[in-house]
Amino acid sequence: MDEITRRAFVQRSATAAAVAGLGAAAGTAEEYTLKPVRVGLVGVGNRGTALLNTLLSLPGVSVPAVCDIDAAAATRAQDLVEKAGAKRPEAYTAGERDWERLCLRDDLDAVVTATPWEWHTPVMLAAMRAGKYGATEVPAALTMEECWDLVKTSEETGKPCMMLENVNYFENVLAVMRMVREGVLGEMLHFEAGYQHECRSYYFTEEGGLTWRGRHLAEKNGNLYPTHPIGPIAWWGNVNRGDRFVTLSSVSTKSRGLKSYAAEKYGAEHPLAKRDYAMGDVNTTLLRTEKGMTVTLYFDMCTPRPYDLIFRVQGTNGLLMVGNDKAYIDKISPEDHAWEPFAPYVKKYAHPLWKDLEAEAVKNGGHGGGDYIVVQQFVQAVRKGVQTPQDVYDAATWSAIVPLTMDSVAKGGTQVEFPDFTKGKWETNPPIPVMGA
Ligand SMILES: NC(=O)c1ccc[n+]([C@@H]2O[C@H](COP(=O)([O-])OP(=O)(O)OC[C@H]3O[C@@H](n4cnc5c(N)ncnc54)[C@H](O)[C@@H]3O)[C@@H](O)[C@H]2O)c1
Repeated sequence: MDEITRRAFVQRSATAAAVAGLGAAAGTAEEYTLKPVRVGLVGVGNRGTALLNTLLSLPGVSVPAVCDIDAAAATRAQDLVEKAGAKRPEAYTAGERDWERLCLRDDLDAVVTATPWEWHTPVMLAAMRAGKYGATEVPAALTMEECWDLVKTSEETGKPCMMLENVNYFENVLAVMRMVREGVLGEMLHFEAGYQHECRSYYFTEEGGLTWRGRHLAEKNGNLYPTHPIGPIAWWGNVNRGDRFVTLSSVSTKSRGLKSYAAEKYGAEHPLAKRDYAMGDVNTTLLRTEKGMTVTLYFDMCTPRPYDLIFRVQGTNGLLMVGNDKAYIDKISPEDHAWEPFAPYVKKYAHPLWKDLEAEAVKNGGHGGGDYIVVQQFVQAVRKGVQTPQDVYDAATWSAIVPLTMDSVAKGGTQVEFPDFTKGKWETNPPIPVMGA
């Protein structure tokens, strides 16, 4: 690393540490680069295996322990680590709380969980209490109590907890971040986004039962998967960093998609084709912020449809319709009141983080590279001993949409208040900076 790069690196680390309130990270840039990061991984199914591959692709990262209730999944993970040329990790497979033993190991810096949703908060609490950094798959929590537990435990232990919201690191999402920060769209007004992705095959087993996802959808009605769309919006809109969500109201349609899928898959007389499902097919939520922004959010995963996150990003100068590849910006777009394509803006406003990591990210991580960057960003924070870029307040705020929408839907769409997990710090927290890796 040349001297200028080294100095910039150290300065950035110090700034990040100061922002995090964790104190300046000790050590030189070279030490950070070389310092090993030891990660224990809980839940090595589909997503956990992808995260494991990404972790193994990062220099200086080792995985001394893995945990899964399914011994075959744990063995597969052990084999993967060994194949990558590292020491075979110890496996924890003794029941659904065996991650408690993993968290207590003294050779881990961080614990990452990719279990079913209901285990995310318990694993994170155990990790932080054992003095480890925590990273969880999405959503971080399912109830308000869990959201507050994450915040309180992180504050009490001084250990960061990051929800691995990979969509925040998609190339186009990062480019929009730069556009917003550079004021191209003016003052931000409104966002629209959704997790719109048919996933019905993930809800039913081949044997005629419900998977863990299916069980949640059978029993709950609200926005059960809000973090992919709200993560980017919260960063673009400085939520918890100058603004905050104050209210939310949510409504769901009738439920048809799960029942009809079960009937098609198992036959009309099958119990899963005859039972009722709580989750409405399309859930729509309206959020309002303290400073006067609004968000329309969708959860749409239960009927036949192509994937689309939408991402309408609207400011006082114009708007982007990311999913439709359309943009209109006053005095910049070539024709008055006529759309132009959005795609060229992605290159024009390429984010420095994307430029720094693109080659490795595309090679080593799914979702176009977003998976690599989110894991890399977490690992770098652990290595430097600083706050994670997505902090515990992000995790709690973005996940709280699950219980708050369930509450609002149950009350016929009544407006509910959004708690302030930052306890007032949102007013002075600085916005997420635009900077490289
Ligand atoms: N960020 C993304 O793009 C993305 C994509 C897919 C999944 N996910 C998230 O990843 C998580 C896992 O999803 P998946 O598709 O891999 O599910 P999966 O069912 O394939 O994997 C879950 C794994 O956890 C194990 N497990 C269950 N209970 C456990 C316990 N108590 N202790 C240890 N292991 C346990 C299961 O045996 C399984 O191997 C979910 O939270 C999901 O929302 C995120």
